[in-house]
Amino acid sequence: MIEVTIDGKKIEVEKGTTALEAAEALGIEIPTLCYHPGLPADGNCRLCQVEVIDRGRKSLAISCMYPIRGPVEIFTDTEDVRRARKFVIQLLIARSPQSPVLQKLAEEYGVDVPDERFVQKGEVDLCIRCGRCVRACAELGNECIDFVSRGWEKEVNTPFNEPSKTCIGCGSCAEVCPTGAIVVTEKDGTRTIWDRTFRLVACDACGTPFATEEQLEAAKPEFEQTDTRVLCPRCRKIAEARTIVLLDGAQGGHV
Ligand code: SF4
Ligand code: SF4
Ligand code: FES
Repeated sequence: MIEVTIDGKKIEVEKGTTALEAAEALGIEIPTLCYHPGLPADGNCRLCQVEVIDRGRKSLAISCMYPIRGPVEIFTDTEDVRRARKFVIQLLIARSPQSPVLQKLAEEYGVDVPDERFVQKGEVDLCIRCGRCVRACAELGNECIDFVSRGWEKEVNTPFNEPSKTCIGCGSCAEVCPTGAIVVTEKDGTRTIWDRTFRLVACDACGTPFATEEQLEAAKPEFEQTDTRVLCPRCRKIAEARTIVLLDGAQGGHV
């Protein structure tokens, strides 16, 4: 265990804990955009910067990527930190002035929101290029979406802007998106995402369409191990709870 000080508060953490995790454990909030606790960090937004003093040397560090390896002192809200975050917000909001997430940050850090009439023509762009969707899809082993183009043109898309053949329509990318930039529509037993429409399968218990055929196919081993019926998450929970009650009852009967 290593003792670190964050904004004057001391905490002992395991070696390798990130500065962001340590701050969270102390209840100190650091703004993040690309970080998601369920995904590998990749430090692409740089919003979570903090000041670290390590053996007398002061530097800015990306807190979600900074593993604590020694007794450092960390400051999460200094003038330098705020200036660095302000710069990040200025760059992001110049491209997506309509994003409520960025507008909130801009207000907090005193960044002027550009007049979108002069910045953006055409569609509303809510994407803040955090890459969570790309990492979520990659974690599933699908890799159907990625960043394409560079600089101002950079965006998340499917290869060649065509509906992806390997996409299973699971919606995980949309679930982790912090801005609602990925549109998922469900209508008449179908789900459309990334310009591809999937047929939804209904739950064997309640009849609600809840998952795509491709999604269930990908999860098949799990279903075969637990229950032969196709159940939505809610009905699965109920079924599992019933099994536990029945087992408990059976065990109680033998006592
Ligand atoms: S819906 Fe498609 S693109 Fe999105 S995470 Fe699932 S497989 Fe990937
Ligand atoms: S679509 Fe959403 S999750 Fe993906 S990069 Fe844009 S804002 Fe992030
Ligand atoms: S949240 Fe740490 S770099 Fe984006």
